[in-house]
Amino acid sequence: HRPWPGLLAAYRRWLPVTDQTPALTLCEGNTPLIRSHRLSEQLHANVYFKYEGANPTGSFKDRGMVLAVAKAAEAGSQVVICASTGNTSASAAAYAARAGLKAVILIPDGYVAMGKLAQAMMYGAEVVAVRGNFDEALAIVRELAERLPVTVVNSVNPFRLEGQQTAAFEICDALGRAPDHLCIPVGNAGNISAYWKGFCAYHAAGIVGNLPRMQGFEAEGAAALVRGEPVDHPETFATAIRIGRPASWHLAVAAVQESNGGIRAVSDDEIRHAYKLIAREGVFAEPASAASVAGLLQLHAQGVLQPGETVVCVLTGNGLKDPDNAIQHSDRAPLVTEASTDAVQTALERWL
Ligand code: F0G
Repeated sequence: HRPWPGLLAAYRRWLPVTDQTPALTLCEGNTPLIRSHRLSEQLHANVYFKYEGANPTGSFKDRGMVLAVAKAAEAGSQVVICASTGNTSASAAAYAARAGLKAVILIPDGYVAMGKLAQAMMYGAEVVAVRGNFDEALAIVRELAERLPVTVVNSVNPFRLEGQQTAAFEICDALGRAPDHLCIPVGNAGNISAYWKGFCAYHAAGIVGNLPRMQGFEAEGAAALVRGEPVDHPETFATAIRIGRPASWHLAVAAVQESNGGIRAVSDDEIRHAYKLIAREGVFAEPASAASVAGLLQLHAQGVLQPGETVVCVLTGNGLKDPDNAIQHSDRAPLVTEASTDAVQTALERWL
């Protein structure tokens, strides 16, 4: 019996891990690939969810953060810093705590889901809420890193993308091939770039014989790549991808072009619809994650998806991260009754 050793050990030969790299892990990775019975049936395809909410801090960020923090520790750094819409900060704070480093995180004041803020605070990070958006916070982080002895662990740190490739490896390992389409939300555009790098690495090594079409989806109010220019005032209720100046712009565009995929915009209404649809199948993902499923529905409506194709939708973050949106968007409020069997039965009769 061997327990899952975490990503640095499991995919060591694919990662820049040396004997000097600390064996950092919170047992991240190895997340479920869940078949969506309903979408498969509706769209006449094989649809899977890659459920990244099952990572230790509840998002895909852990895949890149474990490597970025391990390499920071290896280099003798004592402080990591990042800007974040919430998930990166939760992950940075957790891995810094685990490695014995300090974490400084900059978040856009008022635009981070409650669960993510709670995580960063509990893991012991120094939290700075700036009166501005993510793009402004990231610009500040990059400037600060020139003045202070800190390591930036945003996805501009190349170790982040190296680590995030492992999700593509896991999908190929599970399916025995690459999917035909990989549907993924796009914010700062790091993850789509990392997946493409991972698929290409497995393909080049002959482990899979095919490559997926990379289908990225931005929120309509923050769709810089779709518009071809930065968005100065990005807006969407999916706060994780409320980003107007994606840092990995060129890598993402290359991934889409090389794979014959696309970047499309999904509206907040489409995201909301998908958010509920996924949950009604027993899978709880945060709003930004639902952009992948909203996008898949667009691909189907536009005839891009062919019958029988295999699609993986990346569900990037756990639904528990954002309880406010969950409660606000659920159709049913709890029934409140007296504490008697009769009262509960009466209340239920209307529903059963
Ligand atoms: N989904 C979730 C849940 C995210 O938190 C993010 C990014 C994305 C998708 C988009 O990924 O940036 O690689 O294109 N969150 C970052 C953060 C920006 O600070 O947590 P991307």
